[in-house]
Amino acid sequence: MADWTLWLEATGALAGAGGLGYAKARAPRVYWSLVGMPVTWGRFTLSYRSTMDVCGLTVQPSGLRAFMTRNVARREVQPVPPKIRRVRGTSTGLRVTLRLPAGLEPHDVIATSERLRHAWGVHSVTVTETKPGYVELRMTGYDVLRRVRMPRKARPHDLIVPVALREDGTAWERDYRAAPMALTLGANHSGKSMYQRNLIKGLAQLPVALVGIDCKRGVEQTAYAPRLSALATTPDDAASLLAVLVAEMEDRFDLLKRHGVSEVWELPAAERPVPVVVLVDEVAELILISSKKDEERRERIVTGLIRLAQMARAVGIHLEICGQRFGSDLGKGATMLRAQLTGRVVHRVNDKQTAEMGLADVAPDSVAVASLIPMERPGTAVVADASGGWSKIRTPETSREEVAAVCRAHAHLVPDLPALEPFRPFVPAQEVPAAGPSLVKPRPVTD
Ligand SMILES: Nc1ncnc2c1ncn2[C@@H]1O[C@H](COP(=O)(O)OP(=O)(O)OP(=O)(O)O)[C@@H](O)[C@H]1O
Ligand SMILES: [Mg+2]
Repeated sequence: MADWTLWLEATGALAGAGGLGYAKARAPRVYWSLVGMPVTWGRFTLSYRSTMDVCGLTVQPSGLRAFMTRNVARREVQPVPPKIRRVRGTSTGLRVTLRLPAGLEPHDVIATSERLRHAWGVHSVTVTETKPGYVELRMTGYDVLRRVRMPRKARPHDLIVPVALREDGTAWERDYRAAPMALTLGANHSGKSMYQRNLIKGLAQLPVALVGIDCKRGVEQTAYAPRLSALATTPDDAASLLAVLVAEMEDRFDLLKRHGVSEVWELPAAERPVPVVVLVDEVAELILISSKKDEERRERIVTGLIRLAQMARAVGIHLEICGQRFGSDLGKGATMLRAQLTGRVVHRVNDKQTAEMGLADVAPDSVAVASLIPMERPGTAVVADASGGWSKIRTPETSREEVAAVCRAHAHLVPDLPALEPFRPFVPAQEVPAAGPSLVKPRPVTD
């Protein structure tokens, strides 16, 4: 009997250890919730004061406090660390809110984040200032960018689309009100189209008009045709489409003038024209020319894009441009256009100059990070916001079929924009499986 129980216990323990090992590798969220979080929480609680002390994140207490400690509590006066205001476990890590004592600033904590990460044995520690005097330490228990899963609560709303996951486990959202125009750069096969695919998946569910310009003959965007209000797959079509969009922008400005307002968001909802997002998959195909005769078309395209980039925000027209490079080598007007594109996303690049094209003028510290994105992590990128901050993100792997299905399911959201009607892509009616050849082999009739 005793042998049996021993045997059962041993196999149970082995199975448990094996299960945990498997969970650690294959289901890190589960492992984190069952094992990682309790261990890290305990380690954090027990070693908080000493860790803060050795990391130089303590200050001498105020005179009154020191006096009270010495004379009332009759204890030795010790330096004080930031007060813990809240500790919260998430499916990817721990969030700790700290109240900074006088004498410490968020940069002091940011500077030690690498030391804190090692002290508490977590994958990463990111520090963000939540309000003056408070910082949040966002720890992740495992590499959340290895296999990206978006937080369940991340849903597209207003003009905000969650597109990727940040290193700290939070969703990174593309906010069209905050950054109306954006540029996405990256080398071949770095994940630009995947980024745009995720963006289209989110935008398709919102009441916006989607306009595609995909001069690689539409190989990427044709699949999303049911939800597109317009699609241009050649530079000639793109030039005409941009002219129509510029005309639409001018009409919308007339509308604003009639109502005496300066942007569409101030109009009453019933009068407000629907926002338009123009997605350009490879900008070089539009701007680079091979012969002199295309020069006039290039001029029209660049002028149209610059005019839209400069003014269209107020009338709810947004540009989302992808490219491998975006510098003066694209010719006249390229850098001027780039300067108007506030949002910047830089995927893996082959040279530092490309990273600089995207990030040097908005978040110079992040150039080195973008240059180090490894090849085996496609979809990883550095995003900069106009305030000089930046984050490392990775898009979830999403198939074209999945996004095409979302586009089909939301085809009824294609708004009524008569000006774009001539560019509306052809959508074949739902294919009904045709009666194929019979699988029953005819048998010769023999007598
Ligand atoms: N987030 C991701 N996770 C996993 N795989 C990804 C991710 N993003 C992209 N990939 C893979 O990387 C490859 C290249 O992606 P994508 O086509 O988006 O690159 P690209 O930058 O648009 O390339 P190109 O410049 O050739 O158009 C694809 O096979 C895709 O499946
Ligand atoms: Mg691509």
